[in-house]
Parts: sequence; C-alpha cells; structure tokens
Amino acid sequence: MTDNTKQEQELDISLDKTKAMIEEHKHAKNFYWLNGIEEYLQHRNHPQLDVFQDIKKVILYANPWALKNCVMREIERGETELTQEWVNIIMAKFIDYKHVNHRKLLRYMCHCIDDEYLRTASIWSIKWQEKANVNDHFSRGQVLSKLWMIDQFNELFGKELGTVVHYGGWYATIAQLLFEHFEIEKYWNLEIDADCIGISEHFNRVQHQNEWQFKASMQDCDSLEYKNGGFDTWVQNRHDETISINVKPNLIINTSCEHMTDSWFHNLPDGMLVCLQTNDYFDNPQHSNCVHGVDEAKQKYPMSTLYYEGEIDTELYNRFMLIGKK
Ligand SMILES: C[S@@+](CC[C@H](N)C(=O)[O-])C[C@H]1O[C@@H](n2cnc3c(N)ncnc32)[C@H](O)[C@@H]1O
Repeated sequence: MTDNTKQEQELDISLDKTKAMIEEHKHAKNFYWLNGIEEYLQHRNHPQLDVFQDIKKVILYANPWALKNCVMREIERGETELTQEWVNIIMAKFIDYKHVNHRKLLRYMCHCIDDEYLRTASIWSIKWQEKANVNDHFSRGQVLSKLWMIDQFNELFGKELGTVVHYGGWYATIAQLLFEHFEIEKYWNLEIDADCIGISEHFNRVQHQNEWQFKASMQDCDSLEYKNGGFDTWVQNRHDETISINVKPNLIINTSCEHMTDSWFHNLPDGMLVCLQTNDYFDNPQHSNCVHGVDEAKQKYPMSTLYYEGEIDTELYNRFMLIGKK
C-alpha cells in the first residue's frame, strides 16, 4: 500500500467517526426534553424515578446496564403486540433504529411509568409533536423554573388562587400542575402566537372542556387596558363567533418577561398580585428584555409589597422571580 492510499484510508475512517459523532449529538439533542421530565419526576419524588433514569440513560447514552434493566422489565411485564416496538425504542442506538420520536418515546414512558402528567403529555403529543417545540418547552431550565414557582406559591398562598391570568403562557403545560395543587376558578393564557391557543387548550383539555376553566386568548399583553380591575378579551365560541369576555384577575403570572416590553407591567392596576420571571440569557435572539440580576428586575418591575425575590441557576442562564403586589 502506498503512503498516499494509507493516508486516504485514515482520512476516510476519521470522516466516518466524525459523521457518527454528529449523528450521535443530533440524536441526544433531539431528546433534551428528557432532562426537564427528570426534574419534574424528581420534584414529585416519583416512586418510578429509577425506571425513568434507565430510559434516559439508554436513549441518550446507550448505557448497556440501563438497557439490561429496561429489557428485564419488559420480560417481567410479558409479551404484548407492542413488545417489538418497545424493544426497538430502547435498542435504538444499538441497532441504528431511526424512528424514535417524541410521540413514541412519551408513549413508551407511559407504558413504564404511572403518571398522570406524562399521560397528558403523551396524548397531547399525538397531535402536536411536529408543531410544538417539545425540546425547548420541557428543557431543564423551563421545567425547573416552573416547579420553583409552584414551591413558592405553596409557601406564600392558601389553596384558592381564584382567576389566574398567565401572560405569554406558551403551551401552558404548567397550568396542569397548578390545577393539581390549587383551587383555580379560571386560568387564562394570553398569547400573541396563534399556534399556542390550540396547543395549550389541548394540553389542558379537561379544564378547557369544563366550561372554559382553562381558556387561551390571542392577546398582546403589552397593550392590555384595565378598567375596574379587569380587562376585555376576545375569543371564538363553539359557533365560531367572536365574543368579548371581561376578565378580573386575582393573580397575574408572567414567565415570559424577557420576551416583551415593560408595558404589560405598567398597565396593571396598582395592588394587583403578580408573579413574574425573567432571566439573564441575553444571547438568546428571541429575548428582547433580559436583566442582569434580581435588583435590576426589582427596579424594572417595582412592587408596593414584595413577598418573594430569588434566583436560580439553570446551568445555561440565571432565572429571577419576584412575587408581590404592584
Ligand atoms: C418562549 S415562550 C416562554 C418562555 C418562558 N420562559 C416561559 O416558559 O413561560 C415566550 C412566549 O411569550 C409569548 N409572547 C411574547 N410576547 C408576547 C406579548 N406581547 N403578548 C403575549 N404573548 C407574548 C410568545 O408567543 C411565546 O409563546
């Protein structure tokens, strides 16, 4: 073999390795949402956390011991018409099975783990896995910050939250956990993105079908006008007619401050109870209004009574939260 041929062969091998590494990275990146689900299960001290962690290790890292545990659990459960599918999913990285997606993985997780929130997400994903950004929505930082908010509500508030209005609530998957922990008369998701209306109403379908206990409305939160403690918003009824509804919030949640101007806050009536979150993730091109720290957040959103201020490190950025009365 000439020196040239040997060099070419070495180059081919190294190119193949690089391609394999890129594929591996893409695969893991597509399932980053497993990190957020892990935070959720840890937070609820779920008895099957170990089962979830095996699934995560096998899907993201092809861990052979985790694979063994998953296979043993299938054997214990016994063969069904879906066993082949489950085995394909857990062995995907070993047998180069390329058809695992959010939907299939969520369905497999629900086969292994008994959890209502996961079941809700799994059913929801049948319809929305292509349209919804599952990876971002259930990223570790997003889920951690919502669980942190629930913990603080539990510390500060009683059981009844009354009418909750979530500004820029995105897919409002957090509403399910709030419904579980608190008594909520109405939960409104005010969104500027039309896609989020159907996506969030479907995730909260039980409450949506319960006389609109959950409802989403197309609304620019920066330009809401309050009168007598409430505002008017417009929604479609089941006959596709546009109707106006007057909403009187007891609590405003805004976990998307970094995405909008400060007008939403200035337009709130004095004395309104608010929970807001913002962050210092300036590098994200979607963020137009970040802050450097909790002190800057306090200056930007001055409260007459502040019940809570805090920050958490989500690894990628810091998130800040204020709870108080404007
Ligand atoms: C990426 S998401 C949410 C991020 C945030 N960390 C969270 O989890 O709630 C930001 C959401 O704010 C919505 N949004 C941005 N500006 C808005 C506005 N002026 N009024 C209503 N919704 C808005 C966007 O449509 C999007 O769904």
